[in-house]
Amino acid sequence: MLAVERFLDRAAVVHMNGFSFLGLKLTIAEGDASYVGDGDDGVVLVSHGRAIKLFRMDNKGTEVSQHLNRIRKDQAYKEFKALSLLTSHEDFLEHQHFPKIVSTELDTCTAWIKPSEPNVDAWAVQMEYLAGAVPIGECARLWGLVWDEVLCFDFDRRNQNLQDIMDQLCDAVKFMGSLGIRHRDLDMCNLLVRISDFRLFILDFSRAVLPNNDERFSVTDDPTKLLVDCLNTPFYPEDISMSERVSIQYAYTESYRNPLGNHKEYDPSDPRSIGLVFDKLFKCHIDGDLNFGPGIDTVSFESENNRIRIRIESTLPTEDSEAEQTKPAEFLRHISKDDRLRAINGLVAAFGNRIYSDGVIIKQNTRKIINSAEYVHNMSRYKLNRSQTAKV
Ligand SMILES: Nc1ncnc2c1ncn2[C@@H]1O[C@H](COP(=O)(O)OP(=O)(O)OP(=O)(O)O)[C@@H](O)[C@H]1O
Ligand SMILES: [Mg+2]
Repeated sequence: MLAVERFLDRAAVVHMNGFSFLGLKLTIAEGDASYVGDGDDGVVLVSHGRAIKLFRMDNKGTEVSQHLNRIRKDQAYKEFKALSLLTSHEDFLEHQHFPKIVSTELDTCTAWIKPSEPNVDAWAVQMEYLAGAVPIGECARLWGLVWDEVLCFDFDRRNQNLQDIMDQLCDAVKFMGSLGIRHRDLDMCNLLVRISDFRLFILDFSRAVLPNNDERFSVTDDPTKLLVDCLNTPFYPEDISMSERVSIQYAYTESYRNPLGNHKEYDPSDPRSIGLVFDKLFKCHIDGDLNFGPGIDTVSFESENNRIRIRIESTLPTEDSEAEQTKPAEFLRHISKDDRLRAINGLVAAFGNRIYSDGVIIKQNTRKIINSAEYVHNMSRYKLNRSQTAKV
């Protein structure tokens, strides 16, 4: 145990360019901050334009909680360090897909979260609050809808928006990779899109693997290794029982699902996770619970989706390698990003936040009215193909 404590003492100070920094001790009282969301590892609060991600400390004082706290600190440190490396990089302006870090060291915090949790002790990472950004899955439907006097689908526009997201995701992952950061948890819940400028952001580095050039990284292991270590003696003092070790491992892994939906088995690489994310986005597009009204030919709608899906998929990486991420993509008709943004902003202005926050309006009021000549042409082509097929 002593060895662990000594390590933590040393870890409390970070050396940068010859200076030492210590984290801040924040106090957040009731009304100081509002609650944004939570997940497996913590709670996110927002205050004065800052998002404060809290990694709770367990104050039960048991052997198990001490070790859980060590894992939480490790996760908080990864979040802090990954965002620091990314946002302080000289090329960050070209790759702004991450919230800017505000903390200069890993901070600690005592926070009021809700009446039943008035004094939560936590490690804290302060970062830019991404106003107007929503989880990628919640706005996926918006990409195909454009305001054109009536609410309508525009397949070109939708798929250019999708392409735009894909390009940004690939760019962000390449940038992370060039800094030696592997995110390891690239899933829908950790990707946000800011509607106003259609910018994609990657969040949540608590499971990341960082480059091994900091004295603390020598023990900031790959989480998979950390899990294995959970059951090995060197990670713990000898007096901890096997059942306590299992409780720690359980607490660390049980709530967490990797992008493959598993608790702890094989984790996909970041490029592979991108593929999984795209797959989910496509499914959002062709989800059957939109209300298209009685006169709509849903078979044509599906075939249109499939056609575009195949065209986009041909631009996706087929190999799990970084070099594959930069394949060019093409579209039949280019619509400028400004035009696409104007259409999206028109929708948001017309329907307000609800359109992407809960999707109710889209589900209830959307009628699939395609009024462009091009779509009519596409429709007739599909009808023709189907009747030909039917004859055969
Ligand atoms: N900088 C930010 N700006 C705006 N919203 C944020 C920001 N950071 C987090 N959020 C919101 O809080 C939610 C949770 O954040 P995050 O994914 O970082 O933590 P977490 O889910 O607790 O971590 P884990 O995924 O490991 O459980 C996000 O889905 C997002 O909606
Ligand atoms: Mg998360």
